[in-house]
Parts: sequence; structure tokens; C-alpha cells
Amino acid sequence: MKVAVIGLGVVGLSFASVLGSKGFSVFGFDIDRKKIAKINSKKLPFFEPKLESFLKRALSKSFEISSDIEKTVKNCDLLFLTVGTPKSKSGFIDLTMIKNASKNIGISLRHSSKKPIIVVKSTVIPGTTTNVIRPLIEKSSRKKAGKGFEIIANPEFLREGNVINDTLKPHLVVIGGSNKNSVNRLKKFYHKLYDSKIKFMLTNTQTAEMIKYANNSFLATKISFINQISSLCQSIPGTSIDEVAEGIGTDPRIGRFFLNAGPGYGGSCLPKDLETIIQFSSKIGANPILLRAVQQINDLQIKQIIQLLEKNLGTVKNKSITILGLSFKENSDDIRESRSIELIKTLLGKKSKITVHDPKAMENTESIFKNKIIYADSILKSLDNCHCVIIMTPWKMYTKLKNNDFKNMKRKLIIDTRRILSKKCLNAEYFALGLGTD
Ligand code: UGA
Repeated sequence: MKVAVIGLGVVGLSFASVLGSKGFSVFGFDIDRKKIAKINSKKLPFFEPKLESFLKRALSKSFEISSDIEKTVKNCDLLFLTVGTPKSKSGFIDLTMIKNASKNIGISLRHSSKKPIIVVKSTVIPGTTTNVIRPLIEKSSRKKAGKGFEIIANPEFLREGNVINDTLKPHLVVIGGSNKNSVNRLKKFYHKLYDSKIKFMLTNTQTAEMIKYANNSFLATKISFINQISSLCQSIPGTSIDEVAEGIGTDPRIGRFFLNAGPGYGGSCLPKDLETIIQFSSKIGANPILLRAVQQINDLQIKQIIQLLEKNLGTVKNKSITILGLSFKENSDDIRESRSIELIKTLLGKKSKITVHDPKAMENTESIFKNKIIYADSILKSLDNCHCVIIMTPWKMYTKLKNNDFKNMKRKLIIDTRRILSKKCLNAEYFALGLGTD
């Protein structure tokens, strides 16, 4: 069975690389020729641990990449749609890329003798596979679903920074479709990719799409919940949010994952998906009170950091502030919706002087702020002469910071949003989100 992966972003490239490395015959398609050239030269277009070696193995085996959609579609029996569904200006999901891809798949199908299964992995609001993607393919292919092709919703749950492990071992494969034969064919394919213990959830397309939104909304809710409790802890001397998280996380009904308090959730998924489901709810006449509160708490996190800063520095105007960590999470160079970027924007608005450091995300950050901020190539240089340092992303290298590293700061004020230095005895004014101070 030949497989196509259409859209080589984080999800598509990881999936295709894992498939190719395991010897599946994979055709990768992307409209971005520069990206294709990079991937073909065995380089990643973004940073992701472990992915490069899987890509190399895949390219040396059975992974072929092109920008020729017709060739890709005509060759394959399974077409995975993994194009991005980013945020539009209004905050709602932007379906332009997936609509274009659907049209082009349809056109390529017109004269093809294959009857492929088109598998929608991209995150789309409930109803999109059936009401938007399917009709577009039907119109442009001049073929009917069920006759000329099949369509299935199959959302993805992998996390950036961990894509290889998540692709190799998903906790669940959700398959949404009405045609039993194609659902079984896709199941069979996944059985070949994973071992027999893999869990499946079979449902209709709109429920599959909703599972993805419910999943990301719940994760965001867990984070905002713990951040709300974290704010309370901060006002109760001696209280530690990490111990509270440990305590409640031991209850199997709650679980320990996603209870790490911090500056709020960022990234290209949780903020976008929450905003989309909120706007979608309003469109269908519902009032998503809880989800709105989740967003509000997330927005408050940056305000709390600013409050802490102003409480200690008086004004932040003309103060030199160092930000450690720019990516939205560790092990990633992705700065989309990163809380650090929001923090920098707010501080620049207040006329602070900003110096930044990150092991992977400097180039991406430079493309936003250009010469408005200073980019330090080492942690030590970033701390030189600053009035305060704020630890935003819990990169492992920041957990190793010790007293001597802060010696050249103008004022030894540390704000640790992730509490990674809380166990150290630091000769500095140390404040952390979620730790109650006396
Ligand atoms: C998220 C979901 O976790 C994936 O399951 C999903 O497939 C993906 O979105 C997607 O829709 O494509 P991702 O955006 O890679 O994955 O990142 P997460 O690991 O969910 O982290 C999101 C943000 O929450 C980060 O800023 C992280 O620092 C923050 N976070 C996470 C916390 O502040 N505390 C936690 O306990 C966990």
C-alpha cells in the first residue's frame, strides 16, 4: 500500500519520516519548494529532537518528496492530509490551506484509476471533513465520495518536542468514518505500523473532530486550573504549587500530567484550538463559560509576572530585563503564541530594555523583534548588567544555573516562572510563580 503525506509540517514530516524509516512506501508533498529542498538535503526545516535521524533513515529507504501533487495522488492508496490549519486574524481557524489542498487532490483524482482513502489528520472544527473537505474534493474530482474516493477523520495527538515518541506510540488512534470497509483498511494499515496492542476508537467524522478539540481544551483547562491555584499559593506564605500538584496528581481521577504551573500555555495548538472552539460554540448558540475562563486565566499569567516585576523594580521603564527561554516549551524552536514573546511585547511597550537567550529559538525571535532587543549568545552574557532575569522556558541548561552565574547582574533579582531553581540556595532576590513568600 502506497501512502501519501500531504503537508510536511511538524505532524506530516514526523509521520512520513516514521513511516519511511519503517520501510513503508511514502510520498511526501508540500507546496513550499524551499522546504522540500531542505528536507531532500536531509535537513529539518525546524528543530525537533530525534526527527533528523528518522528522516535520514526514511530518505535512504522509501520516502520520496515532491511538489507535484498529481504524481503524489495518482501513486497512492492512502492520502494523509496534514496541512496546517492556523489561526486567522479573527482568531478563528483558517481553512485556506486545507481547502486548497482538497481542491488540488480532487483535480488530481479526476483522471486517476485509484480509489484512495483520504485521511484528514489536520485539526478541523466538527463537521469540516463532511461539510467542507468532502464536497470540495467531490466538486474538483467530479467523483462522489464512496465511489471515487473515501474520506476519514483521524486527528493527531502528538506534542512538539516529543513527536517521534508520540508518533511511534500514540495513546489512541481515533478513526471517524461511515464506510466500514475503508475504516477497516485504515485500521489494518495502523496495525502494520504499530503493534497489536494499539488502542482504537471508531466513531463518525464529526465526533472524531470533536475529540481533538475536547482533548486540547481539557489540557488547557488543566493548565489554567493549576495556574489559578498557583496564584493562590503565591499569596499564602510557605505554600508550594508543585507539592499541591503532586498531592492532587496522585489521585488517579486527576492524574499528575499537565499540572505544571507556569507562565501559561502557548504554541500553535492550545491557544488556537481554544479560541476556535469558543467562537464555534458561539456560532452554534452555546455559551462556553468555562473555556472563556481558561483563556482569561492564561492571559493573567503574563500580567502577574509584570506585577511581580513592578513590585520589585518600581517602574520597568529603562530597566534592563533578561528573558531566558523564548520557545513556547523546551526542546522546540517554535515561538508561535509563546508566552515569552507576549512578555517581551508588553515590556517593550513599557520601554524596558530587553536581552534574550534561548538555545534554539533565537533566529525565529529575531525575525519578529529585529534590532529592538539584544540577542545574547550565552546565558552569562545575557545576564551581564541586567536589573532582573525572568526564566520562562524550562530548558535543562537553565536548571543548572548557580550563584556564580548571576554575579554580574546589576541587581540580583530572579523571577522563576517554572520554579526550576527553587531548591537552590541563591544569593539573590528570588521570586517564583506559585511559591508563597513570607
Ligand atoms: C498540544 C497537545 O498536547 C497535543 O496532544 C496536540 O496533538 C497538539 O497540541 C496539537 O494540537 O497539535 P503542543 O502544542 O506540542 O501539543 O504542546 P503541549 O505539550 O500541549 O504544551 C502546550 C503549552 O502548555 C506549552 O506552552 C507548555 O509549556 C504549557 N504547559 C504544558 C504548561 O504550562 N504546564 C503543563 O503542565 C503542560
